[in-house]
Amino acid sequence: MIQWLHDAIFYEIYPQSFYDSNGDGIGDLAGILHKLDYIQDLGCDAIWINPCFDSPFKDAGYDVRNYKKIAPRYGTNEDARLLFDEAHKRGLHVILDLVPGHTSEEHPWFLESKKVKPNAFSNRYVWTDSWGTWAGGLKTILGEADRNASYIVNFFKSQPALNYGFFKPDQVWQLPPDHPDCIATREAIKDVMRFWLDRGCDGFRVDMASSLVKFDSPDHTGTVAIWQDIRTMLDKEYPDTVLIAEWSEPKYAISAGFDADFLLDFANEGKIGSKTLLRDYYPLLNPESDNSFFRAEGNGDIKRFLDVYLPHYEATKETGFISLITGNHDVVRAAHNLTQEELKIAYAVILTMPGVPFIYYGDEIGMRYLNLPSKEGGYDRTGARTPMQWTSGFNRGFSTAPTDSLYLPFDPRPDAPTVEEQQDDDESLLNTVKKFIELRHNTPSLRDNKNFEVLKGEGHVFVYKRDELVIAANPGKTVQKVKMPYNRTYEKRSILEIVSLGSSCTWDGGELRLGAGSFAVWSVACAGSR
Ligand code: NOJ
Repeated sequence: MIQWLHDAIFYEIYPQSFYDSNGDGIGDLAGILHKLDYIQDLGCDAIWINPCFDSPFKDAGYDVRNYKKIAPRYGTNEDARLLFDEAHKRGLHVILDLVPGHTSEEHPWFLESKKVKPNAFSNRYVWTDSWGTWAGGLKTILGEADRNASYIVNFFKSQPALNYGFFKPDQVWQLPPDHPDCIATREAIKDVMRFWLDRGCDGFRVDMASSLVKFDSPDHTGTVAIWQDIRTMLDKEYPDTVLIAEWSEPKYAISAGFDADFLLDFANEGKIGSKTLLRDYYPLLNPESDNSFFRAEGNGDIKRFLDVYLPHYEATKETGFISLITGNHDVVRAAHNLTQEELKIAYAVILTMPGVPFIYYGDEIGMRYLNLPSKEGGYDRTGARTPMQWTSGFNRGFSTAPTDSLYLPFDPRPDAPTVEEQQDDDESLLNTVKKFIELRHNTPSLRDNKNFEVLKGEGHVFVYKRDELVIAANPGKTVQKVKMPYNRTYEKRSILEIVSLGSSCTWDGGELRLGAGSFAVWSVACAGSR
């Protein structure tokens, strides 16, 4: 495992909305560079930038037209190189977003692939052999090319699926993964990775990492084998490369050679009871059905999360990391349904759990979700992608462009949280996040996957152990009592306590008393054993 990851906390940046350095209304790479000190001061070690490559932006850049060119609206390849250099000078790492499963319909490979006359790219994408719509459940598109075939898409119509083969081909148009044309696809993606690694990036967050081989086995055998092959190349040529999967099944992603994998709540197939901690509800925008563990109201139950999390943790704790997120560009902001005090407890848990945590830009100040019309294929994700709120001044300090020309509107409410206002308030969400980041960095027991044991995980009570630390969260409205397996003196570390609703937490003899809306960490190192 890559050494620096053991103590890493990532900051995810949606480049459109972080900081606009040239006053054209949209964020850019120079803007990220300008704000590196902020990220460093927050205590994060690494940055993940959402796709910043040339694109027609029908899915906000997840439809890549040229993998090797920074989109002009964000700057140039030289700006990217400079950003990597400046980040490294500050001890920060930068990972880019790799989209290996599909390209834009405007990618030159696809323009060639569409042609009737066979050529080197005819099999670069998945095409059927007739113009029927049947493809065994895969999404087909017709009417866009003269080939007597339909193409398969990975996501939107504008995102044709690259061809890595079928696990068990049973139609003539389905190629096996070891077909030379499928191998050529994977080699082309390796070439893209080399291109950016040569320019100084530290690795990739990999979009839809499990989507490569079609009709794969339940254990993803075909796709796992491809990533293992890519990892072998990286180990040989770029041994320190970090690969973080968007797979949401860590046990498979880690065995495939990824360093970490997210547990994402949209991967719950619409069932109530999701994989993330913060958004235990479905549908996303209906607060009535919000059963987030961290919401004082509602039917939060940490067990739903743990039932999914623990088997993955057990399967990967020696070999890789699970990444818990405060949010990302695909989900409603946590502050939509959680108060600032609830968020403090939520982030305290995320930052004291095993793995490699990710903070989505703006979550550290509790930026809220806005109800906005769809932009660049964002649909209801758009409201989680608005400009960073730096100050309460013009355009919230995001850009000098005329307000009506901003990429997306900012939160216009007078109480919109800002960095400026929270920086000076010791109790603010921002400073709470900072304290917990600092704590994680200064406490070896909180790093990576160090011994994690659930002492109680039911309803609104979550008590867990990380080596000599006992950590307890009770986001609910009522006081909770927990019988402890430890019965000795203890030391409560006061900086680690959050009390949002009621009284603080106490530990007397064998009983833990958790105040309503509370979070606390005890060190039992001096308290002895069970
Ligand atoms: C997952 C990305 O996070 C999302 O934003 C994108 O729309 C899809 N993959 C398709 O690339």
